[in-house]
Amino acid sequence: MNKIIFNVPHIVGNELKNQNSLKKYKKFSSNGYYTNKCRSWLIKNIKCEDALLVKSCTAALEMCALLIDIKPGDEIIMPSFTFVSTANAFTLRGAKIVFVDINKDTLNIDEKLIEENITKKTKAIVVVHYAGVSCEMDKIKKIAKRYKIFLVEDAAQAILSKYKNKYLGSFGDLATFSFHETKNVHCGEGGALIINNKKFIKKAYIIKDKGTNRDEFDKNIIKKYSWVGVGSSYGLSEINSAFLYSQLIKVGKITKYRVKIWKLYNKGFEKFEKQKKLLRPHIPIYSKINGHIFYIIVKKNLRDKILSFLESNKIMAVFHYIPLHNSQYGKKVAKKNYNLKLTDLKSKSLIRLPLHLSLKKKNIDKIIVCFDKFFKQQGKNANL
Ligand SMILES: Cc1ncc(COP(=O)(O)O)c(C=O)c1O
Repeated sequence: MNKIIFNVPHIVGNELKNQNSLKKYKKFSSNGYYTNKCRSWLIKNIKCEDALLVKSCTAALEMCALLIDIKPGDEIIMPSFTFVSTANAFTLRGAKIVFVDINKDTLNIDEKLIEENITKKTKAIVVVHYAGVSCEMDKIKKIAKRYKIFLVEDAAQAILSKYKNKYLGSFGDLATFSFHETKNVHCGEGGALIINNKKFIKKAYIIKDKGTNRDEFDKNIIKKYSWVGVGSSYGLSEINSAFLYSQLIKVGKITKYRVKIWKLYNKGFEKFEKQKKLLRPHIPIYSKINGHIFYIIVKKNLRDKILSFLESNKIMAVFHYIPLHNSQYGKKVAKKNYNLKLTDLKSKSLIRLPLHLSLKKKNIDKIIVCFDKFFKQQGKNANL
């Protein structure tokens, strides 16, 4: 059997056809036909006030920092168990990062630890829906409201996931999606800024359009556009939007298949969990997943050995994240030194398994047989 690849970016089939049709529209930069199609799709489906197509989720997070007007010394509360962009976007504007430990079951920010970290300088809570599993949004929203601080959802991995029957991305004042090729739907590199708090809409367009009021010009509201505020070049080109639109309209089908693979893993690994060899992801009853990531937690000192064993059996698996509070730059921009026990433990014990649309049941069966072999070799040594 060929090597089982960790990720194969999905192609639905219409991407290049859509891009070819751009000849007809004669518009290749941002804000054209397909940008608007993607925008409308997001507004209708996520049920948000507005959605701006941007170059990446990183760009969308940077826009969030500009929108909430981060000044040097402002504090942002977030998990350390996340991708660098979640923090980097805010440190670019001089924010201090307050890292909070994660929940042992979901690996999402522990909502019980947020309140004790709020100070007069706290500007926002940034939650990350890790692996497309939702954070405890009712509780976190209540805290943000009580202290009058902004709530931002880094929903990079969470397109079409739900919290209590509402799509993720619809809870924060602002939210962000990633359409990087590693995500459920993609356009190579791309992202979206989701706006639920209407007061940010006008400013968001200015920030996206290089600090100009070009959007009003495009809508024939003004005769000439000019420099009216801070901004950058954040808009997604029509070439990428055309690619993305073909995938967005198929996201339901894509999600269904990913969840099917996720469930095959979950069932296959049940016996290992019973034998105390590993833990499977915990999905709270309030969360509906999108099958973005299937991960397992193994004994810390066996993690690398398992990865090598899989590799020698032609199975590519990976781990992440190096916790931000321990990273070289994270230490510099953190408010203080943090000792986050669960973040440290889980990040050293986590393995992500291949999950993409080219996987078949026989591939999952092979992976499970491989784990069976490994755990038999290790005996009690592998027990958690
Ligand atoms: C939680 C999280 N936030 C932000 C990003 C950045 O996304 P992008 O590559 O679209 O900038 C990622 C990318 O994997 C992510 O996982």
